[in-house]
Amino acid sequence: MPGISAVVPAAGVGSRMQTDCPKQYLSLAGKMLIQHTVERLLSHPAINTVIIAIGAKDTYFAQTGLSEHPNVRVVLGGATRATSVQAGLEAVTTQWVMVHDAARPCITHSDIDALITHAQSHDDGALLAAPVRDTMKRANAQGRVAYTVDRQALWHALTPQMFLTQTLKQALIQADDTVTDEASAVEAIGGQPVLVPASASNIKVTHPEDKWLAEFYLSQQEGKS
Ligand code: C5P
Repeated sequence: MPGISAVVPAAGVGSRMQTDCPKQYLSLAGKMLIQHTVERLLSHPAINTVIIAIGAKDTYFAQTGLSEHPNVRVVLGGATRATSVQAGLEAVTTQWVMVHDAARPCITHSDIDALITHAQSHDDGALLAAPVRDTMKRANAQGRVAYTVDRQALWHALTPQMFLTQTLKQALIQADDTVTDEASAVEAIGGQPVLVPASASNIKVTHPEDKWLAEFYLSQQEGKS
C-alpha cells in the first residue's frame, strides 16, 4: 500500500508525571495531549493511517473521539513500549512505518518531511534527534562523577523514527523488551539509522512543568505546522 503508517504507542501510565491520569490524556490548550499528537500526524499528506496502541485498562481514550476518525486504528498495547509498538505493527499494511510517542504533541510537518526524505534514501531508516548541548558526566554508584563523556558525537534520540515495516518487525522480534526506542532494536540487528536534526520544540511531556512548555510551542506553531 502506498503512503506511510504511523504507530503511536500510548499504553504507558506516565508515572513520572505524578498526575491522576496517564500523561497522554492531560489537558493541553483545550484538548487532550494525544489529540494534538495524532492530529499533527493525520494532517500530514504522506501519512495515511495512524495506529494507536492503548492500555487494556484505559478508561480515557474513548473521550478523545479519535477512534471515529476513518484513518485511525486502535490496538491493545503491551506491558512495555516495545510490545505496544509490535501490536501496532500488526495492523500496518504500508511498506514504511513511523513510530511516534503519544507524548510529543509539538511535532512539526517540516520535521516529518525531513525524516521521510532521509529514511527513504537509506535502508536502515532514520530518526529525529537533537545534538547534546550540555557537558555530560558518567556517575559512579555513589552519585559522584566517574568521568566526563565527550559530547561531540552524542545525540538525544527523539521520535518519530521511521523504518521499512519488515525491518522494524524483524528487529523487534529479536529485541530485548526493554528497548526504549525503535532505532535501538534496528541497531541490535546491525542497522545504522540516520540521525536527522529536529527542531527544539519536539519535546516529550514527561514532567509536570513540560506541560506549560508544550502549550507555549503549540500556541507559537498555530497555523504554521
Ligand atoms: O515512559 P515513556 O515516556 O518512555 O513512554 C514513551 C511512550 O511509550 C509513551 O507514549 C507511552 O504511552 C508508550 N508506552 C506504551 N506501552 C507501554 C509503555 C509505554 O505504549 N507499556
